[in-house]
Amino acid sequence: MSKALVTGASYGIGADIARALAARGHDLVLAARSGEALDRLAAGIGAEHGITARALHADLTVEADLERVAEAACDVDILVNNAGAGLGISFERTAWAEERRMLQLNVVAPARLLHAVLPPMLERGSGRILNISSVAATAPVWQGTTYGASKAFGLALTESLAYSHRLRASPVAMTALVLGHTASRFHELAGIAPSPPLLTLPSPYVAERAVRAIHRRRPPVVCVPSVRYKLLTGLLQHLPRRLVTLPGLADDFTTIASHAPGTAARPPESGGADGEHGVLAAEAGGHRERQL
Ligand SMILES: NC(=O)c1ccc[n+]([C@@H]2O[C@H](COP(=O)([O-])OP(=O)(O)OC[C@H]3O[C@@H](n4cnc5c(N)ncnc54)[C@H](OP(=O)(O)O)[C@@H]3O)[C@@H](O)[C@H]2O)c1
Repeated sequence: MSKALVTGASYGIGADIARALAARGHDLVLAARSGEALDRLAAGIGAEHGITARALHADLTVEADLERVAEAACDVDILVNNAGAGLGISFERTAWAEERRMLQLNVVAPARLLHAVLPPMLERGSGRILNISSVAATAPVWQGTTYGASKAFGLALTESLAYSHRLRASPVAMTALVLGHTASRFHELAGIAPSPPLLTLPSPYVAERAVRAIHRRRPPVVCVPSVRYKLLTGLLQHLPRRLVTLPGLADDFTTIASHAPGTAARPPESGGADGEHGVLAAEAGGHRERQL
C-alpha cells in the first residue's frame, strides 16, 4: 500500500482528492490548518476505505509548519500540492502581508514540498506529483491581481521539471491540473462572487479525473478536466493576446469597486494567527464581481 500527502485537504477539492485516493487504497497524510474538522475527515475516510489517514495540522504560510509538512512528505509516493487561495483585491490595494501570504501558500509551499519529495522519489524510481493550477495561469483573466501569476508558477514549474531529461528518464511523473471554476469555498473565501453555474464543475468530478490521470502508466504533464475547459484553455493559449485581452472579456479587479481605499483589513504580519478559516482574502469582503 502506498502513501499520499494532500495539502489543503480539510474541504473543497483537496478533500475530494483525498477521498478518491483513499478509494484506490492509498494511506493518507492530510495537511491543512483546520483542527477538529481535519481530524474528523481523516477518521471518516480511514474508516470508510480501510486505510490509514493522518491529519497534519499546519499553516503552510508559517515556515516551521511548512518544514514539518516537508519532513512528513519525504517518504510519500504521491504528493498533491492542492492548498491555495485567491486574493480578490487588485494588487495596488492589497496589504503587503496579504500578498506575501498568498505567494507563500500558492508558490513557496508547493515548491518547498516538491523539493522535499523529488530526490527520494527519483532515488526510489517511483512517485507521482500533482500540482493544482488554474485556467487563470494560462492568460490574464484575473487582471490586476497576483493570483494568475501565482498559479502560473506551478504550471511552469511542472512543465519545466516534467520535460527535463532527468524526469523523462525516470518513472517519476509530475502533472499540473489546470482547473476552471469548481464548486468549493474558494470564491467565498476570496471575497468574490460564486462562479457561473454553466461553467462550474463539481469538485468530486475534477478530483476523480485528476486522480485517474496520475494513476495512468504515463500520466499527462498537463491535465484539464472537462471538454469545455480544454476548449477554453486552448483558445486562451493560442489566440493572439490582443484578442483574449480585449477590454471587458476578462475580469479586471482594478475596476471593481470595493472597500474605500485604505480600509482593507490588514492581517497580522506574523501569519497563521488569523483564525481557523481566515484565509487570505476572507477579510477583504465587498468584491462581488464574477471571476474565473
Ligand atoms: N475552486 C476553483 O474554482 C478553482 C479554480 C482553479 C484553481 N483552483 C485551485 O484549487 C486548489 C483548491 O482550492 P479549492 O477550490 O478547493 O478551495 P477551498 O475550498 O478554499 O479549499 C482550500 C484548501 O486549502 C487549505 N488552506 C488554505 N490556506 C491554507 C494554509 N495557509 N495552510 C494550509 N492549508 C491551507 C484549506 O484548509 P484550511 O482552511 O483548513 O487550512 C482548504 O483545505 C487551490 O490551489 C486553488 O487555487 C480552484
